[in-house]
Amino acid sequence: MRRCLLLLAVAACGLDDSLGRMSEQLKAKPQGEVAAFADGRVNRAPPPGTVPRERELDLERQVPPIGLSLLEKGRRRYDVACAPCHGLTGEADTLVAAHLKTKPPSLLESKVHEKSDEHVFTVITQGSGAMPAQPDIPPDERWGVAGYLRALQLSQRSKLEDAPPEMQAKLKAQEAKPR
Ligand code: HEC
Repeated sequence: MRRCLLLLAVAACGLDDSLGRMSEQLKAKPQGEVAAFADGRVNRAPPPGTVPRERELDLERQVPPIGLSLLEKGRRRYDVACAPCHGLTGEADTLVAAHLKTKPPSLLESKVHEKSDEHVFTVITQGSGAMPAQPDIPPDERWGVAGYLRALQLSQRSKLEDAPPEMQAKLKAQEAKPR
């Protein structure tokens, strides 16, 4: 009987051991030492020239020519990356916005309207307060989004006479139609 108990105990230990091996496998711990590198340090210095993702490069800050195709790209990107919080028209009237602790501002209000394109570019790259940074958006598209934001703002601040004549006629016809 005693031998039996002993066997059981050994079997149980064996079980524990197999779990134990998972946490005790060979691995390098942060700040630790490792023989694989000449200086023995686990923490490696980033290669020369590495910059944090959020840091803007001078190259990125060069404004590309903003034409219709870049604005179109900007709109597509805005609709995906910004509209969930700021709304398709910029008015921040979304379900997501309603549930955020810090409310996203309407991008049409003067406070935002008065800011430069460079400012919007930086807000996208680095974030701003509760707004997350989105450095993964390619730089030219960040400029495109800034440009599209201008278009959104203009669309809410313009008079009918500011539109090209053919567009004015179209808009008037639309207005005349009963909804
Ligand atoms: C997850 C929600 C969210 C997304 C997505 C988002 N924003 Fe924001 N945004 C916010 C919030 C919240 C604030 C207010 C931040 C604060 O005051 O702390 C803000 C503020 C701003 C401001 C004013 C900030 C300032 O310093 O002038 C601009 C401009 C802006 N967002 C543009 C954008 C653009 C462009 C995009 C898309 C690339 C975008 N946001 C995507 C939530 C979001």
